[in-house]
Amino acid sequence: MLNYDQPPPRHSLLPPRWFTDPAAYGTEERALAGRLPWRYAGLTGDGVEGADIAACGSFLFRRQGADAPPLADWLGPFAADLTTRSAALDSPVARDAVEFAANWKILVENTLDDFHGSTIHPQTIHPAVDADWRRHLATQRAGPHSRSSWKLADDTATWWGKLVARGALRRFADQDRYDHVFIFPDLYVASFFSTMVIVHRVVPLAVDRSRLEWRIFLPGAATADARAAGFRRGLVAMLTASARQVIEEDRPVCEQVQAARAAATGPGILGWREQRIGDLHATLTQLLETE
Ligand SMILES: [Fe+2]
Repeated sequence: MLNYDQPPPRHSLLPPRWFTDPAAYGTEERALAGRLPWRYAGLTGDGVEGADIAACGSFLFRRQGADAPPLADWLGPFAADLTTRSAALDSPVARDAVEFAANWKILVENTLDDFHGSTIHPQTIHPAVDADWRRHLATQRAGPHSRSSWKLADDTATWWGKLVARGALRRFADQDRYDHVFIFPDLYVASFFSTMVIVHRVVPLAVDRSRLEWRIFLPGAATADARAAGFRRGLVAMLTASARQVIEEDRPVCEQVQAARAAATGPGILGWREQRIGDLHATLTQLLETE
C-alpha cells in the first residue's frame, strides 16, 4: 500500500513533557515494563533465557504480562519479516553503538519518517533509493509495528548484484529493495537488497539520553572460495564504516530536536507521510493513560 492511499493520522501526540521531564520518564519506564505484552530481548546466542522468553526466528522477546497474546499475534504480519531476515543472522560481521543526547522516542520518530533519507542523509542513503521514491515507497502498518519498503535506484541494485556475485553472498529474497521493519517500541531491522541486515535497538538511558546499538549481518555462502571470502572482508570494513557515518548523521539532528522539544508549547502536528510516527504516539498514549 502506498503511503498516500490513506488520510493523515488523527492521533493525539504526546505532550513535550514526555521528552523532557524525568518524572514522566519514570512513569513511561514503568508502563513499558508492566503494560506492554512483549518486549524485544535480544538474538539467539545472546544468552537470553527463561520461561518468559519466546522466539520469532532468531529474534527473542520477553513476555511481560500473564495475559499477553501469543508472540505471533503481537507481531502480526511482521513475524514473517523477522523470520525471513533471521536467515541472515548466522553471519554477524560487526556491532557498534552511539549515544545520543535525546529522548529515545526522538530516535524512533527519526527513523520512521518517510522524509528521513532525503532530509537527514541526502548524500548517503538518499541517492541509493529510486529518485521517484514517493511512487515506489510501500508502507504496511499493523498496531504499533510497521514496515516501509523502498525501491533501490537501478545503479544501486546493480552495485549490490555485483557484490553478491563477487562475495558469494546469500539473499533471503529476490527483491531489489531497502526494507525497514519497526517492532514497537525499540527494535528496527534494516535490510539491503535482501542480503545485508542491520538490527538496531534503541536503549533509553535517561529522559534526554539514549544509546543506539546496531549489529550488522552479511550472509555468505558456506562454499565461498578464498577470493570471495577476501572480498567479503573488504566489503565488511566499508559497510561498517558507512553504517557508522550514517548514524553520525542522525545524531546531531535528534539532539537538535530534543533541544527544540524542550521549548515546545504543545504537541506537534503530523503530516501525510508520518503515519508510522503517529502509531508510536498512539500506542504510548494508550499505555500511559492508565498510569
Ligand atoms: Fe538515519
